[in-house]
Amino acid sequence: MKKADIGLIGLAVMGENLVMNMESKGFTVAVYNRSTEKVTHFVEGRAKGKNIVGAYSLQDLADALAKPRKVMMMVKAGQPVDDFIEKLLEVLEPGDIIIDGGNSHFPDTERRTKYVESKGLLYIGTGVSGGEEGALNGPSLMPGGSPEAWPAVKPILQAICAKVEDGAPCCDWVGNGGAGHFVKMVHNGIEYGDMELICEAYQIMKDVLGLNAGELHDVFAEWNKGVLDSYLIEITRDILAYKDEDGSPLVEKILDTAGQKGTGKWTAIAALDEGVSLTLIGEAVYARCLSAMKEERVTASKVLSGPAPSFSGDKKAFIEDVKNALYASKIVSYAQGYTLMRTAAKTYGWDLNYGGIALMWRGGCIIRSQFLGEIKKAFDKNPELQNLMLDDYFKNAVMAAQDGWRRVCATALMNGVPAPAMNAALNYFDGYRAERLPANLLQAQRDYFGAHTYERVDQARGQFFHTNWTGKGGDTASTTYVV
Ligand code: 6PG
Repeated sequence: MKKADIGLIGLAVMGENLVMNMESKGFTVAVYNRSTEKVTHFVEGRAKGKNIVGAYSLQDLADALAKPRKVMMMVKAGQPVDDFIEKLLEVLEPGDIIIDGGNSHFPDTERRTKYVESKGLLYIGTGVSGGEEGALNGPSLMPGGSPEAWPAVKPILQAICAKVEDGAPCCDWVGNGGAGHFVKMVHNGIEYGDMELICEAYQIMKDVLGLNAGELHDVFAEWNKGVLDSYLIEITRDILAYKDEDGSPLVEKILDTAGQKGTGKWTAIAALDEGVSLTLIGEAVYARCLSAMKEERVTASKVLSGPAPSFSGDKKAFIEDVKNALYASKIVSYAQGYTLMRTAAKTYGWDLNYGGIALMWRGGCIIRSQFLGEIKKAFDKNPELQNLMLDDYFKNAVMAAQDGWRRVCATALMNGVPAPAMNAALNYFDGYRAERLPANLLQAQRDYFGAHTYERVDQARGQFFHTNWTGKGGDTASTTYVV
């Protein structure tokens, strides 16, 4: 029998669907699962009559594959990935390629790439986005790792991934080591931000304007036709229309405590490590944490009171303001996410293609949207673009949305409705466009209590001064390192 083009380990829903997708594109796939009943169940069920071969041991899997062998793991991130790598190293040979398609933390992928390369094999850590449906019909794929592995896996990955209107694949080589998983992590952070912004817009319109689920459905349906056109707005529209068995909106019966698997948190931690202001995603993570303290919030709600939301203005005009607030905040979020990628690329020596990343996210993944097409254009125009808001298209968009955005943040604050991500975005915008911030005073404070020194506006940069503020301190300054 013809050897299989690729092997896949891990027959959970994402794994199975990726196998079906690969097979439908003409590839023969060998499959293995730790509990081997799943292999039987799959090959005798969904995979019956297809070019899918069941393997009952890793040796079987290796024997079934054409060389250089390509084995993709779709297993739980963390220790299971390391465990499978060890076992695979026993049955594979130099030149073979191990691929991790889980949501692995990028430092693990950096480490694993070096480790697998040290054994003479090649490694790829790829982000896979789009959920079950994407895995089956075309996910967004963000591969990184050993560059020599890319030509061998490219035909398979680019065949199974999502395509945008002109047929361009939502998958390209991201960079060495952990670059692919880093970009997937930022994708997830942005996903957290997009979701939080939508939730804030929903709550403001529900609590301040008093719109019901049906009216909110109509608003999101309308928004999905314009600049906000995206998968997450589309599913929000549909969720708002979904009725429980008693005919009432199901969304209002769902407990308000958010779960999280950690990729948003990793993005925020990476931003702190890189010294990048990634406030919107940070707030999105914190909002999930606060939501999870349900019992404590219920207690607090009986002790701490705030204003009762009310609205007397033009509802239609305010809905337009909310749309603008969402849009402008989203621009800030992507500006912050791209700044994180640019900064991390320097730290890790990755040569990231920012327009290419926008194209990978343009289709197939959870954050897919029209908007990403505009980001692609902005980076195609200027690959060195420092901040998305400095591109003409986004500058004009933010400027046009600004008044409404401010009205929404102010209204939310005055009505006691939390909108942490929208406010964080506006604060970042005002901070980023400020020629002078109060850090002069902050530096004075640092110098006052700890002789940490300061630079002066009337002297060249890089010269550090210390003042004996109280007359009681000495002339000895502290060192001036910055983390
Ligand atoms: C994707 C998603 C996916 C992620 C879920 C859950 O791109 O398809 O990002 O990878 O696992 O969205 O994430 P949380 O449980 O952290 O919300």
